[in-house]
Amino acid sequence: MTSNVAGAHGEQAPVPGPVPVPEEILAVARAARRVVVLSGAGMSDESGVPTFRDAHTGLWERFDADALVTRDAWEEDPELVWGWHWWLARLVRRTGPHPGHLALADWGRRVSLDVVTQNVDDLHERAGSEVLAHLHGNLFGFSCHDCGAPHELTVEPLGEDEQVPARIAPVDAMLAADLCLVVGTSGIVQPAGSLPDIARGHGVTVVEINPNDTVLSWGVDHIWRETAGRALPALVAAL
Ligand code: APR
Repeated sequence: MTSNVAGAHGEQAPVPGPVPVPEEILAVARAARRVVVLSGAGMSDESGVPTFRDAHTGLWERFDADALVTRDAWEEDPELVWGWHWWLARLVRRTGPHPGHLALADWGRRVSLDVVTQNVDDLHERAGSEVLAHLHGNLFGFSCHDCGAPHELTVEPLGEDEQVPARIAPVDAMLAADLCLVVGTSGIVQPAGSLPDIARGHGVTVVEINPNDTVLSWGVDHIWRETAGRALPALVAAL
């Protein structure tokens, strides 16, 4: 199934040339009328936005998450937290969606496709996708955590659960889908990491697209060890 060889750090390195689409994944994608995509930082990697936990390159390999993205950090040093999120926002502003984001937007014009993302960037929207939920907030939205008044970052502090309403829509989308694509997430952070299980427990076919093994890999129906930027355009082109 994979079209890769191991890279310097054990990650999968893409082989140039057309990306073969695994038959069983193409079959479930062709049959799907309601698709839900759960995306993580790996979805934005090929746009130049670093992931959080990839060996050597991940942000949490280089920076201290506790000092930058937790409620305590915000209360202790709001300037540092603001500075971190401005730095990330400027980095995202200098990038753009890659062919994988564009392929999902294209597919979303043909079938009902819900995007549920853990990413705080706006690359899905800039590609033309409607995002049902930013589970961990949005770099470009500012509102008061308590009253909603526009003055504070809407990025969810790490370790704090989303407001209950924000959790319902993604669960409903998982239950209503006939195909769940899990793209570029380690699945480590909860409750986002439980959404694929909720879908699968409800008879929805779950496909993981990720060049590396994750904590979710054992519980999915099909695995495609490929990058988002290579797999999604190949899949949508083959539909
Ligand atoms: N295409 C697809 N997947 C990729 C790619 C790529 N080009 N590059 C890396 N990946 C995969 C990695 O193998 C890894 O499994 O993306 C995953 C990234 O995992 P994390 O860095 O843990 O990111 P994520 O799962 O989104 O983290 C969840 O943690 O720090 C918090 O709030 C933050 O939303 C984030 C949450």
